[in-house]
Amino acid sequence: MIVCSCNILTKAQILSAAETLQREQPGRPLTPARIYRFLQMRAQCTVCFALVRRIVMESGLAVTCPEPLGSGADDEKNDALYG
Ligand code: FES
Repeated sequence: MIVCSCNILTKAQILSAAETLQREQPGRPLTPARIYRFLQMRAQCTVCFALVRRIVMESGLAVTCPEPLGSGADDEKNDALYG
C-alpha cells in the first residue's frame, strides 16, 4: 500500500523504519519527518503525515508527538520542531 505518493513510500517501509528507529533510540518520539529522514526521503506536500502517524500508532510503537500542520517541506529544516 502506497502511503506517500510524493516519494512512492509504502506502509511496509514506514513500519520497518519506525521499528528500527524505535529499537535504536527507544525514548525518542517517532515523527513522520524523522522516519522520512531515516529513509533518505524528503516530505514534499506532507499530506501523508497524518496517515504515517496513524500507522505508527496502530502498530503499537511509541506514540508520535504532535507536529505542526502546514508547510512541512520548509519546516523539516527546523530541528527544534522535528529533531
Ligand atoms: S504524499 Fe507524502 S509528502 Fe506528499
